[in-house]
Amino acid sequence: MQLIDQRFLPHQFVIEDVATVRQMADAIREMHVRGAGLIGASAGYGMYLATIEAAARPTMTEFDRHLADAAEQLEATRPTAVNLVWAIERQLANIVNGRTAREKIALALRTAKDTAAEDEEHCRLIGEHGFHLIEQIARSKNRKSVNILTHCNAGWLAFVDYGSALAPIYTAHDRGLSVHVWVDETRPRSQGSKLTAWELAQHGVPHTIIADSAGGYLMQHGEVDLVIVGSDRTTRTGDVANKIGTYLKALAARDNNVPFYVALPSASFDWSIHDGSEIPIEQRSVDEVKCARGWCDGQILEVKLAPENSPAANYGFDVTPRRLVTGLITERGICEANEKSILQLFPEHAS
Ligand code: MRU
Repeated sequence: MQLIDQRFLPHQFVIEDVATVRQMADAIREMHVRGAGLIGASAGYGMYLATIEAAARPTMTEFDRHLADAAEQLEATRPTAVNLVWAIERQLANIVNGRTAREKIALALRTAKDTAAEDEEHCRLIGEHGFHLIEQIARSKNRKSVNILTHCNAGWLAFVDYGSALAPIYTAHDRGLSVHVWVDETRPRSQGSKLTAWELAQHGVPHTIIADSAGGYLMQHGEVDLVIVGSDRTTRTGDVANKIGTYLKALAARDNNVPFYVALPSASFDWSIHDGSEIPIEQRSVDEVKCARGWCDGQILEVKLAPENSPAANYGFDVTPRRLVTGLITERGICEANEKSILQLFPEHAS
């Protein structure tokens, strides 16, 4: 199967072939593919590859062992986005129903396709629901351009299509509303300036890249009407884990009365967790903080930014407490960030 290797965007559009579980695990860990929805979809296909590999094993017991090893290998790649575990568990629950290796492979392929198709449809619906929010603001501004701030990349690159945070923006733009997006650069990996800006440019959506620390200033000066971010894991009570720096945006939004919305498909809810402090936060290599990758003379180069011997830390995500979240935009509609309101949309997860 083929992936867009996002490490090369926006400078090169590189397609990567992935044929084994190990290659898929590497692609997720090293962030050739990233973003909650795409991590889930990729893990789903990773489990399909696992069934093909397992079919070469001599017995069904060994088939099952290979599958369990593959699940473990894929799960260990990235700890925060809950879509990963969700997609793997969904695969295991379905594959077990096959009696032969052939049946198991077919079930795994079906499940991988269903997971990807659902992700796409859920993001489309998030676009519909979030559109109404933007439309309301546009009306209150006499149709003047709506300024939306976003953090990291929660666009179609982070999902199978449409995106979560960017889906309402694309829908609004496509339906003729004037929107402008403030794109947080999102250090250390710069998913904002590299990926979100590229996506928006491809789609013709007006946008401006800003340093991560600029959002507060813009909010103080009335330049932000709305913040929409994505989520890698949201508790059943509405605490939101998202790319590091999201919490600071939520604080600034609250201080300046700017609505702060989180867009997420239901696969990004962790129904087993009540409090954001229980969400595992990924820590990545400090080289991502101490160095920067960019394009120079026709090639990708990495340059050092910091003193060689200074220690660094690289926390990938933070948790925004529900009290700072104005609302959650899901495929079933918009709700408040609290358990009661979330369960009104997803009653099957009550109890
Ligand atoms: O580390 P990443 O790039 O996989 O992080 C994911 C993100 O892009 C964000 O946290 C995003 O806002 C939510 S996932 C669509």
